[in-house]
Amino acid sequence: MAFQEPDSSRTDTRDSALPSHVGFIMDGNGRWARALGKPRTFGHQEGLKTVKTIVQATRDHGIPFLSLYAFSTENWKRAADEVRFLMDLVVIHLRKEYDFYRSNHIRVVHSGDMEKLPLKVQKELELVITDTASFDSLTVNLAINYGGRDEILRAFKRFASANLPAGSSHAEGLRQMSSALNEQSFSAYLDYPNIPDLDLLIRTGGEQRISNFMMWQSAYSELFFSEKMWPEYSTADLELALEFFKNRQRRFGGTS
Ligand code: FPP
Repeated sequence: MAFQEPDSSRTDTRDSALPSHVGFIMDGNGRWARALGKPRTFGHQEGLKTVKTIVQATRDHGIPFLSLYAFSTENWKRAADEVRFLMDLVVIHLRKEYDFYRSNHIRVVHSGDMEKLPLKVQKELELVITDTASFDSLTVNLAINYGGRDEILRAFKRFASANLPAGSSHAEGLRQMSSALNEQSFSAYLDYPNIPDLDLLIRTGGEQRISNFMMWQSAYSELFFSEKMWPEYSTADLELALEFFKNRQRRFGGTS
């Protein structure tokens, strides 16, 4: 994604019964497929159907932002065949659902390091991002070649190049940069700065960890872990997570 101008208008979602931003760690595709005696890639293919179901359900609920962890910066360690399959699946998804996103007024954005993605993935992403940019019924943030630490490091590099004054001494440059650095000014350099912090982070597949997903944006997320594998995750499971969220008392480090 071309770098966007910093905009620090991040939404405050305190005391809301409905999350403004839900994130999914879509885990369990491989195990689900293996349990059926099928290749891991079958799980990813079936997982794509769940993606559409959850995008539709999120929009129907009026939740404005949905982030989906589709491929992490660590997933390159997988077998080359599986990596290739996942990249092809992203292309298939973007081509197949182009009309779905547009006719439902859903904006698609990307988080992650675009430059290291195969060119065909970059091309399809850029097309869908451009052609849905004006929509506002739901923003779907596809995290592909995404890592929370990687995002923070890339943001810091952009922050430094924008805030290190040219021509000043080393010490003076560092002093000026550090005086400009605060949570608000820094977060404007994250991959998609206009997205609110993650209110609800749901991980499927029975594991209970964050796996480098939205490290900055999940500082005060409510965490929900589902035993369901991603291909079998349903709208009823999403309802359970939303019910859990509704009953949370969020204090953001303060007192009630
Ligand atoms: C983790 O499950 C899942 C992934 C690394 C890929 C998720 C991708 C999709 C659901 C399809 C592509 C999505 C989009 C939005 C285009 P795993 O295979 O690591 O599960 P395991 O723990 O059972 O091995």
